[in-house]
Amino acid sequence: MSDKTVLLTDSASNRTSTLPLVSGSMGEPAVDIGRLHKDLGYFTFDPGFVSTASTRSAITFIDGDKGILLYRGYPIEQLAKQSSFLEVTYLLINGELPNAKQFGAFEDEVTHHTMMHESLKNFLHGFHYDAHPMAMLCGSIASLSAFYHDTLDISDPEQRRLAAIRLIAKMPTIAAAAYRYSIGWPVRYPRNNLEYCTRFLHMMFEVPSEPLALNPVVAKALDLLFILHADHEQNASTSTVRLVGSTGANPYACVAAGIAALWGPAHGGANEAVLKMLAEIGDAKNVGVAVAKAKDKNSGFRLMGFGHRVYKNFDPRATIIRETCHQVLGALGVNDPLLDVALALEEVALKDPYFIERKLYPNVDFYSGLIYKALKIPTEMFTVMFAIARTAGWVAHWLEQHQDKDTKIGRPRQIYTGAVTRNYTSIAKR
Ligand code: SDX
Repeated sequence: MSDKTVLLTDSASNRTSTLPLVSGSMGEPAVDIGRLHKDLGYFTFDPGFVSTASTRSAITFIDGDKGILLYRGYPIEQLAKQSSFLEVTYLLINGELPNAKQFGAFEDEVTHHTMMHESLKNFLHGFHYDAHPMAMLCGSIASLSAFYHDTLDISDPEQRRLAAIRLIAKMPTIAAAAYRYSIGWPVRYPRNNLEYCTRFLHMMFEVPSEPLALNPVVAKALDLLFILHADHEQNASTSTVRLVGSTGANPYACVAAGIAALWGPAHGGANEAVLKMLAEIGDAKNVGVAVAKAKDKNSGFRLMGFGHRVYKNFDPRATIIRETCHQVLGALGVNDPLLDVALALEEVALKDPYFIERKLYPNVDFYSGLIYKALKIPTEMFTVMFAIARTAGWVAHWLEQHQDKDTKIGRPRQIYTGAVTRNYTSIAKR
């Protein structure tokens, strides 16, 4: 809390309210409006929470103007180069990088929680085979509260910790099982001798009839994408997890709600939408038409993978993914014409005044789909990939909120625009 304040004066009544400024360790201060209604009788109005901080958090810091992203103070560029997804997961949850002993224990515990309850296979088989994998993931994760009764007491720190481990460990297993159910393949069980991403790829692609020949480039690229997608402060899905968590709901319900929020094309569903958009554009010569359509308010069309609520500069993750895209496609010998479309679209858009004025740059979703495609991840699984990675952030924020004494149930107010008070009339008189 800083000792600085802002003074608000109500021009109608000349009443004033002195509101304290709240500062963190980095970033802009915020006005604590807690006493505003008491002083002046007004609420604040901020659709989409464009200018509203909902909580304090020590997990991730973003500077949208400078294109900075830190996980627990470490720049994303350094973590992308030097860390691994599971180590980043430990960092997000615990606040510090693990030493070798701590990481070994964490990896061992996650590895020994990767199996899913056999009854969950029947649950998945209740879906129609062509159900979207996000529907199967969302339903399956919510159902975990029916299987793991020993981690539902959220007042118990050990139960909270174990639930977080289970979610991180089982998300890939359930995601792979959902995919294999949709293509009629038998479930592949997690193999404990493999590291996190390699284990997931084996569960996704290994068939009983022959061993999987996996290019190490694939697991390394996936690990990098998971690092980049692991957390992003109070984005829509993480805010959803926190809102559901504020009611005291169990961790599986909270993360299932986060999966549901992530699915939207304005959020995590954008990576799937980008590939569909690039395929519809089809050729670099058509990008001008797409950009013109995106600028036309009546078209209802937006350039998927462009724009961001916070970044008004390049999304640092997009910069890393763009470089990785060239490296991975080259290493795998993939020549994807959609990459040329993406590069052409980016070049035209970034020179267009509409995008420049609105500070619309490629975001994390613009290039990621091209890498997933090169890794042979099916398009409808792209947002599932995002969910696997963001589980690290979701559980870190859920754990943080339950250690925060200021946490209270989230319950926004509204501006009422409906009918004013009126009396009921009998149907005979209507
Ligand atoms: C993610 O929050 C996070 O951190 C999210 C995320 C994470 O890691 O969790 O980073 C992941 O969700 C990335 C975003 C993925 N979504 C998309 O790529 C979908 C396309 N982009 C958007 O729809 C949009 O840019 C948002 C949703 C990302 C941000 O929307 P805002 O902040 O509410 O901005 P806005 O809708 O008010 O747009 C401001 C202006 C508008 O024009 P004007 O009314 O001022 O004339 O920019 C225009 C918009 O029409 N605009 C776009 C555009 N995005 C915004 N115009 C064309 N194409 C676009 N993509």
